[in-house]
Amino acid sequence: MYLLTHVFDELIDSYVNNNIGVANDFLSISLTEELRIHLTSLIEDNKLRLAKIGNNSMVTIDTSIRKDAIYWLDRKHNNISENKFLDLIDEYVLHLNRTCFTGITSYEFHFAHFDKGSFYKKHLDQFQNNNLRQFSMICYLNENWEIGDGGELCAYFEDKKILIEPINGRSVFFKSDTIEHEVLVSNTDRLSVTGWFKINDLGL
Ligand code: OGA
Ligand code: NI
Repeated sequence: MYLLTHVFDELIDSYVNNNIGVANDFLSISLTEELRIHLTSLIEDNKLRLAKIGNNSMVTIDTSIRKDAIYWLDRKHNNISENKFLDLIDEYVLHLNRTCFTGITSYEFHFAHFDKGSFYKKHLDQFQNNNLRQFSMICYLNENWEIGDGGELCAYFEDKKILIEPINGRSVFFKSDTIEHEVLVSNTDRLSVTGWFKINDLGL
């Protein structure tokens, strides 16, 4: 538990100091590997679907805005790596609520695959018609990412533009209602797990 608290605090401290939290040890090297292997086989088995934009009655696929394909994590899949990741997120939620009084009651996470030429134009993650999504988190699974591969996350805060390289095992955490961000064109396959921490979701 001590070790987890330490890696959680690294991300939270970075968030508190910079508004866009970045940490490289939130995911262990072995969990990063396991998730990448699982996602790669899901891609090979054609299990991902083109991501949509909007919610409720406003859901559409618009490849001029985003071109990634996704797969929602779910304990019902009985997949060891998904469950290990969700166990870690459960611990993180407890820690966030205990130390920062965030009142998070649920979350949702999906794998994302941006293939060559894919991007996600500048947006906010919180939907216009509800404020359930409080915090956004992205964990990157890109082994050997290098400059020129593209797919950087570009986040905007006040008059600053922050460029984050999607390197293996790196996690990013920010407020869903205020931080506009975009994914620059990826020149190669770009893998991640992305999710949102939510409040007051009664599942209705
Ligand atoms: C998203 C998103 C950023 C990234 O899925 O909403 O902005 O770096 N992803 O993958
Ligand atoms: Ni986003």
